[in-house]
Amino acid sequence: MPVKILMVCLGNICRSPLAEGILESKLPKENFIVDSAGTGSWHVGHAPDKRSIAVAQKNGLCIDGQKGRQFKTSDFDEFDYIYVMDNSNYRDIIHLAKTPEHKSKVNLILNELFPDENVDVPDPYYGAVNGFDNVYQMLNEVAEIIAKKLIEKHS
Ligand code: 4NP
Repeated sequence: MPVKILMVCLGNICRSPLAEGILESKLPKENFIVDSAGTGSWHVGHAPDKRSIAVAQKNGLCIDGQKGRQFKTSDFDEFDYIYVMDNSNYRDIIHLAKTPEHKSKVNLILNELFPDENVDVPDPYYGAVNGFDNVYQMLNEVAEIIAKKLIEKHS
C-alpha cells in the first residue's frame, strides 16, 4: 500500500499545488501518492494559478494537469499525512477532525523546517510576482526534509 500525503491551503490553486508537485518529484512513485486540496471551494475544478504553473515550470516541474478540489472529512481516513500551509488552514482542518488520530495526522508544513515555530507559508495570491519564487524556495527546502524522512520511515 502506498503512503499517501495531502497538501492543504485555502484555494488549492497557489501553494498546495506547488507543494504537491515538489514533494511528488522527490519521492518514488511506486511507494508514495501526493495530492492537494483547499479548505475553500472557490476553485474546485480549476487548474493551478498561472503564476504557480510558471514558477514550477521555471524549476523544471509541470503542475498544469492538477485540478482544484475541496478538503473533505474522508481525507482524514484516506491520507496518512496532512500538511497545511498556514495557521488558518490548521485551525480550519483541526476543526473538522473528529478523533485524536485524525488530528495527529495534521501538521503545519514549515514546522518540519522550523520545529515548533508555527511559521506560515505566506499566501502569494494577492502579492507580487516574487512571492511565488519565495513560496517555491520555502516549499522546495521543506519538501527535501519531508521526502528524506518519509523515505527513511517507509522504505
Ligand atoms: P492558495 O491561495 O490558498 O495558496 O491557493 C489562494 C488562492 C485563492 C484564494 C485565496 C487564496 N481566493 O480567495 O480565491
